[in-house]
Amino acid sequence: MTVRTIATTPFSDQKPGTSGLRKKVPVFQQPHYLENFVQSIFNSIGAPTGSTLVLGGDGRYYNREAIQIILKMAASNGFGRVLVGKGGILSTPAASCVIRKYKTFGGIILSASHNPGGPEGDFGIKYNVTNGGPAPEKVTEEIFARSKTIDEYRILEAADVALDQLGESRLGDMIVQVIDPVADYAELMESLFDFGAIRSLLAGGFRLRFDAMHAVTGPYAREIIEKRLGAATGSVMNAEPLPDFGNGHPDPNLTYAHELVEIVYGDNAPDFGAASDGDGDRNMILGKRFFVTPSDSLALLAANATLVPGYKNGLAGIARSMPTSAAADRVAQALGIPCFETPTGWKFFGNLMDAGKVTLCGEESFGTGSDHVREKDGLWAVLFWLNILAVRKQPVEAIMHEHWAKFGRNVYSRHDYEGLPTDAANGLMQHLHESFAELVGKQFGDYKVLFCDDFSYTDPVDGSVSTGQGVRIGFVDGSRIVFRLSGTGTEGATLRIYLEAFEPDISRHHLDAQQALASLIAIASEVSQLKARTGRDHPTVIT
Ligand code: G6P
Ligand code: ZN
Repeated sequence: MTVRTIATTPFSDQKPGTSGLRKKVPVFQQPHYLENFVQSIFNSIGAPTGSTLVLGGDGRYYNREAIQIILKMAASNGFGRVLVGKGGILSTPAASCVIRKYKTFGGIILSASHNPGGPEGDFGIKYNVTNGGPAPEKVTEEIFARSKTIDEYRILEAADVALDQLGESRLGDMIVQVIDPVADYAELMESLFDFGAIRSLLAGGFRLRFDAMHAVTGPYAREIIEKRLGAATGSVMNAEPLPDFGNGHPDPNLTYAHELVEIVYGDNAPDFGAASDGDGDRNMILGKRFFVTPSDSLALLAANATLVPGYKNGLAGIARSMPTSAAADRVAQALGIPCFETPTGWKFFGNLMDAGKVTLCGEESFGTGSDHVREKDGLWAVLFWLNILAVRKQPVEAIMHEHWAKFGRNVYSRHDYEGLPTDAANGLMQHLHESFAELVGKQFGDYKVLFCDDFSYTDPVDGSVSTGQGVRIGFVDGSRIVFRLSGTGTEGATLRIYLEAFEPDISRHHLDAQQALASLIAIASEVSQLKARTGRDHPTVIT
């Protein structure tokens, strides 16, 4: 087996976004494209010779081919060992768990998360650091910088590695260790949650459906929910991971997880429904004919955390991304613990968790997690809810209403406008920036603008500053509209409009969010000149 050094030229578009480098599969299939990026990672991170790397992905189209390339490149870049999930599979939270448990140098995760897969779908690659979390911006910037000057990469000339049986084999001087992708993760879950209590809940007739959306959580959910917790066979639906996710869009929200939504809103609905995304880090929580917003879910988990063994001693603090509602802030205040507001992107939580400042984190984008790993964790959130339900023995909706009665309700919705021309989207954001001065103090019906800004964040741990994180329009009564362009799309631009109104009045807590937010929705279109600039007056997705 010989190491070959291949001459290459840079691609100009290898800038990692919110969560790694994401492109269409054919982009990754171009000669040298993946190799350039992987070599740029290796050139940036400076792993000492003999280091261990974790490698796995969500099983989407091109996963296996990419794994073989990366293994052969790792072997010729001085790595001593790679832990790779059987079949090339590792969910994002499981990869984080494995990096931490075995104290590896870092890991490479292949996924485009919730974006569709298949030959014309999306593919992605991201690097996670020693703490198990996504590489911080200084690392991703360095990777991008290297990608712009790369002139060669190293790869071993060797036969493909067998990925389907557990155990060790040699690849050049490196050991490839094929691991069970579920075992370490399931063990971690058992250490955090009261599996006995959840088992009794399920044995007592509580019915649930978990939709794996033909993505990576299928094997995890079958093992944990059906096998270890004893849920009825078939409780986990769409459990077979498929390279194109069965032609679906593996994003657990009310639009894309419609199969589950129909079951949970239909006749004979189960007591609980949940779904996870392509790589297993997102979650959607549903009760019987009831949707829990991710912002409310974070607040509720925080308020009930001490019911769960892994969190029985309380929380150090909570963190949420800026566009996430302030429901968690209210819980933090009541608990007397800090609540941090960070830019969008899980990577911003890593420092806070490492410094012991926060225990729970969450984002409106269906991400919830804790310091048990350094990624958000879909199944973890589901198990957290099941543990709370097992202790409280009330329906999801009743628990949520009690929560609102105590803390007030932050009525919340996000409207997405997908596939906009990039110029139109940028123009809209530019227009908002130019309107700041004129908007402040302006009255729109019952709503008076208190402030407008573009969110920036100074990391309290390392002092790094992130600017341009989203336009905020705050109203005197605490309501809020946020405008942000997605950092994860691969086609045109996606505009996200986040709407939030605080409702202390219990007699209005049952109202539908779209109704309760109607005035704010209208204000958002008006101030952004939405229709004129984008030609759209209706969102693609409402969550
Ligand atoms: C990924 C990240 C999340 C982030 C989300 C935002 O899923 O892991 O932490 O919240 O992207 O996506 P957006 O499309 O809004 O930039
Ligand atoms: Zn994901």
